[in-house]
Parts: sequence; structure tokens; C-alpha cells
Amino acid sequence: MNRREAIKTAVLGLGSMAVMGSGTMLASCSGRKPKVVTINGSPRRDMNVAKLLQKAMDGAESQGAETEIYHLYGYKFKGCMSCFSCKKKVGNSNGKCVIHDSLAEVLKACREADALLFGAPIYYDNVCGTMRKFLERLMFPIDPYTVNQETGERERFLTKTVPVGFVYAMNAPENMRKDFYGPMFNSIEGYIRHIFGSCDAVYATNTYQFKDYNRYDVNLFREEDKRAWRDKQFPIDLQNAYDMGAGLIKKIQL
Ligand SMILES: Cc1cc2nc3c(=O)[nH]c(=O)nc-3n(C[C@H](O)[C@H](O)[C@H](O)COP(=O)(O)O)c2cc1C
Repeated sequence: MNRREAIKTAVLGLGSMAVMGSGTMLASCSGRKPKVVTINGSPRRDMNVAKLLQKAMDGAESQGAETEIYHLYGYKFKGCMSCFSCKKKVGNSNGKCVIHDSLAEVLKACREADALLFGAPIYYDNVCGTMRKFLERLMFPIDPYTVNQETGERERFLTKTVPVGFVYAMNAPENMRKDFYGPMFNSIEGYIRHIFGSCDAVYATNTYQFKDYNRYDVNLFREEDKRAWRDKQFPIDLQNAYDMGAGLIKKIQL
């Protein structure tokens, strides 16, 4: 084990979410159920994102996984503070986020997971700010600023794949999702793939945004059109989320 691997192993400890430089650590946990940690980045716990996440968890459980869900809006936390403690050579903070707010427990659960499920609404053409803050805190500590001296390639912190599934909900119609939001989704999922090894996604478009349209001042879209799309397409989105959740478990490397 070289120095960097030793640091990573010491920082994360046994039972952390993936093997860092040692192929034996996670294997020692085999025999237990794979654990999927789900992060709900929507403030609403029973709307589109939450429903998609529930289906994805059902799919994961159908393959023998145990699941637990964290609702980000229940936590008071900051985004990355750019302190770079997670990149320090000395001390024991390399690879760790040192901010001690309530998100620490969520980050710990993510780091002990075998697979991750994320869900976020689209707010102003990107995933909501709360999900972005979470991703900064989760990903930056395990996204080293180092390149392999021989290959020149950017190094990865995790040496195993921790499969990630991402569900999104948005008001935008399907063509806008593809043509306009495509680069944004590619960017987020590209970082996730680089850091965790894989990322699958389900995009629910043209969502039914309110439980009762009569209560809101809206004439930008027609409730009948929204309802028709919801009745036709949302069951398909839910099934895709279920299949994605089931598929994640098959990608786990124990
Ligand atoms: C603050 C805010 C900004 C939004 N901005 C967008 C947007 O830029 N594009 C879009 O497609 N939908 C946008 N929406 C709609 C939500 O993405 C949509 O209602 C989604 O279904 C929310 O997820 P939820 O149903 O799980 O709460 C916005 C909603 C809110 C509240």
C-alpha cells in the first residue's frame, strides 16, 4: 500500500462505502444485504421526485437490498466552504469533509452505502440548490486533485464502483429536457460517473405540479394536458425508476 492509499484507508476506515486501495475490506462484509442510501432532494415528500425514489427503492429491495432514505430539506447545512481540508497532505482530513453540521450524518451513511439513489427537482434550469450543496459536500472530498504520474490520467479516490441512480422531475417537456437540459444532465452525471464509477438516470418531464390545480393561479399550461401526460407517461417513468433501482443492485461490486 503506498502513502496515498494508506491515507485513504485510514481516513475512511472499515465498512466505508467502497474499497480504497484494498480489495479485501468490503469483501469482508459480504453475506449481508447490500445497502442502498437514498437522498431526496425535493422539499416535497410525496410528490414526483419522492414517488420516483420510492419506486427505485422498491426495485432495489426486490433484488434483496435494504434501503434507507434521507430528506435533505430536513437538514440545515452549507455547501462546500472551499477550505480544501479534504485535499491536505498533513493531518487526517484528506478525503473527508470537515464541516460539522447536520449533513455529516447523511454523508457518513452515503460513504457506507453499496449503492446510492439521488432525486432532485429542476429549479431554474438545474438541479435544485439543496441537491447541489449536497453533491458538493459528498463529491469534492473524494474527487482528488491528482493525476497518475505514469498515465497522466486524473486519479479516482474510489477503486470500486458504487452505482448511482438519479431521478429528476421537471415541468419542462421531453424535447426541452433533451435539447436544452441535455448538457446540464451530462455534466452532473459525468462527474458522478468519474467519482462513483456509474450513473443511471430517469427523467420525469412535464410533471403534474399540484395536487389541486384549482387552488393556484396558473394559465401557462392546461391542467387537462398535464393530467393526460401524467396518466400516460408517469406510470412508465415509475416503472423505469423501479427497473433502475433493481439494476443498481446487479452492478454492486461486493
Ligand atoms: C423554484 C422553482 C423553480 C422551477 N424551475 C423549473 C425549471 O427551470 N425548469 C423546469 O422544468 N421546471 C421547473 N420547476 C418545476 C419543478 O421542477 C417541478 O414542479 C417538479 O415536479 C418538482 O418536483 P416535485 O414534484 O418532486 O416537488 C420549478 C419549480 C420551482 C418550485
